[in-house]
Amino acid sequence: MQKPAALPPLSPIAAGVWRMAEWKLTAAERLRWIEQCLDLGITTFDHADIYGGYTVESLFGEVLGAAPALRSKMQLVTKCGIRLVCPARPQHRVKSYDTSRAHVVASVEESLRALRTGHIDLLLIHRPDALMDPNELAAVFDSLRQAGKVRAFGVSNHTPSQLALLHRRTPLVTNQIELSILQMGALADGTLDQCTDLGLRPMIWSPLGGGRLFTSQDEQAQRVRAVLKPMAQRYGVSAATIAYAWILRHPSRPIPIAGSGRVEALREALAAQDVRLDAQDWYALWEASMGRPVQ
Ligand SMILES: NC(=O)c1ccc[n+]([C@@H]2O[C@H](COP(=O)([O-])OP(=O)(O)OC[C@H]3O[C@@H](n4cnc5c(N)ncnc54)[C@H](OP(=O)(O)O)[C@@H]3O)[C@@H](O)[C@H]2O)c1
Repeated sequence: MQKPAALPPLSPIAAGVWRMAEWKLTAAERLRWIEQCLDLGITTFDHADIYGGYTVESLFGEVLGAAPALRSKMQLVTKCGIRLVCPARPQHRVKSYDTSRAHVVASVEESLRALRTGHIDLLLIHRPDALMDPNELAAVFDSLRQAGKVRAFGVSNHTPSQLALLHRRTPLVTNQIELSILQMGALADGTLDQCTDLGLRPMIWSPLGGGRLFTSQDEQAQRVRAVLKPMAQRYGVSAATIAYAWILRHPSRPIPIAGSGRVEALREALAAQDVRLDAQDWYALWEASMGRPVQ
C-alpha cells in the first residue's frame, strides 16, 4: 500500500460550512465570520460541491472575490462524487454517486470557479461509489495534481477496504468520517484503526452529533448529557468542549470539523486542545453512549 502523501497543513480544528446557507448571513457578515475563524487559528474550511444545494461554494467564493488576500491564509477542502437531484442540476435524474473522470474533472472545475480560487488544497470523494474504477480515479487524481488544480486527495465515509482499494493506487491523506459521543461506529469497524495504522489523520464530521448532543430528547442523548454535564463542571469547561476533547483523545489524531456559525461555539471547540480526558472519563462517556459498560 502507498505511503500517505503529505497532509496539507490543516488547522487542528476545521470549520464546516455545510449549513452556511442556513445562517442567512450578508456578504459582510460572511467575511467577518471567515476573518474571525482565521484570527482564532481555524484556517481549514470544509466544503462540498453539494452544500446548500450547490450554493455554499459560491457564497464563500463571493467573499474571496472581494477579499482575495484571505485565500493564502486558508486551506480549502471540498468534495465531489454525489449527484444531487435539485434545481441547480436539472440533468440529475436520480440521486447517485459518480467517480468517473468526466464527473470528477467537471466538479473540480466548477468548485474552482465557485470558490474563485486557482487550487483546491484537499479534494475528497464524498461517498463510496459502487461503480468506482480505482485505476481510472487514481489517474484522474494524478492529472489534477500535476495540473496544480488539487494539492492532495482523500475520501469520506469509506470503509477500510474501500479506502485501501484507492490508496494502493494513489496516495490519500484522510478519510472524513462521522464520529461523536453519539456515533461511535468508526471506533469498532476498523475505520479508525486503519487511519492510525497508515498515519492518515481522519477528519471528523458532526462532532456534536449535528447538535443532537444538546437538543435530542432520545434516551442515548439524555444518558450522555447526564454524564457530560458534571464532567464538564469538573474539568471547568463547557460540555461541548468535553465532546471535542473526547474525539481528540483518540490516537489517530483526528481533526474535528465544527459546524457552527457561532464564533463562541468555535471557541469551545478550540478549548478542547487544552483538555486531555482521563481514560476512565473517556470510557464513562462511551458507557453512557452505549448504555452498558465495556465487557
Ligand atoms: N463528509 C460528510 O459526509 C459530511 C457529513 C456531514 C457534515 N460534514 C461536514 O462536517 C461539518 C460539521 O458537521 P455538523 O454541522 O453536523 O457538526 P456539529 O458541530 O456536530 O453540529 C452543528 C450543529 O450543532 C449545533 N450546535 C453547536 N453547538 C451547540 C450547542 N452548544 N447547543 C446546541 N446546538 C449546538 C449548531 O447550531 P449553531 O450554529 O446554532 O451553533 C449546528 O446546528 C459540516 O459543516 C460539514 O463540513 C461532512
